[in-house]
Amino acid sequence: MIIVKSATDLAGMRAAGRVAALVRDEVARIIGPGMTAGELSDCAVELMKKNGAESAFRGYRGYPGDICVSVNDGVVHGVPGKRKIRLGDIVSIDIGVKYEGFVGDTATTVMVGVTDSRVVNLVKVTERALEAGISVARAGRRLSDISNAIEQVAIGAGYSVVRQFVGHGIGRQMHEDPEIPNFGLPGRGPILKAGMTFCLEPMVNMGGADVKVEADGWTVVTLDGSPSAHFEHVIVVNDDEAEILTL
Ligand code: MF3
Ligand code: CO
Ligand code: CO
Repeated sequence: MIIVKSATDLAGMRAAGRVAALVRDEVARIIGPGMTAGELSDCAVELMKKNGAESAFRGYRGYPGDICVSVNDGVVHGVPGKRKIRLGDIVSIDIGVKYEGFVGDTATTVMVGVTDSRVVNLVKVTERALEAGISVARAGRRLSDISNAIEQVAIGAGYSVVRQFVGHGIGRQMHEDPEIPNFGLPGRGPILKAGMTFCLEPMVNMGGADVKVEADGWTVVTLDGSPSAHFEHVIVVNDDEAEILTL
């Protein structure tokens, strides 16, 4: 991660976070039954362009898309295609932008006319897990306090946390040190310092924690086919409450 020390770094990270959030919110707003992930992606690309940003995902380790769209049992890294979104689906969108040399990376899970209360609860709990992680991310705490706070919320609700994918430092690169698992004992790892910039991103499954990668080499789905939710924010650690850059 970069530790933002200069006004320039902080302004840069804020600006990248703002663009990522703006694209996320607009894509989330237009999601509806009958739409394809490809159409959502086209909208995202256009908005990035309009705002002077570009996708941080395209070409990243060979990723063939501009955003990630993961539906129902999709956990992360869904490559946008022609499959139509249907009533009752949950749609996780993950948006990463490069803007003036800094990266913003944010995700949300949208419910498309979901009536199954168990699915609604999964989505709410996942967002609450992210909030719990953010609330303990302050100077003087240890890195794994974040992991533990996230896990407690998910496990406490009877769900499981994906272990193969983790949160991360962020800055001029999308993925920087350290890795931030969404599980683990508290009180471990580096002491948090003001200015550290992190992506916190719990992926929570209704069933088991295990996942597999589909034949496209990217799309990650739950092994048992149960639904999965994903929320992600960029934050800057402070002496008190962290600042969320992707609100
Ligand atoms: N945005 C994802 C994350 O939250 C990473 C996407 S990897 C890509 O870390 F290859 F899809 F770009
Ligand atoms: Co992301
Ligand atoms: Co991320």
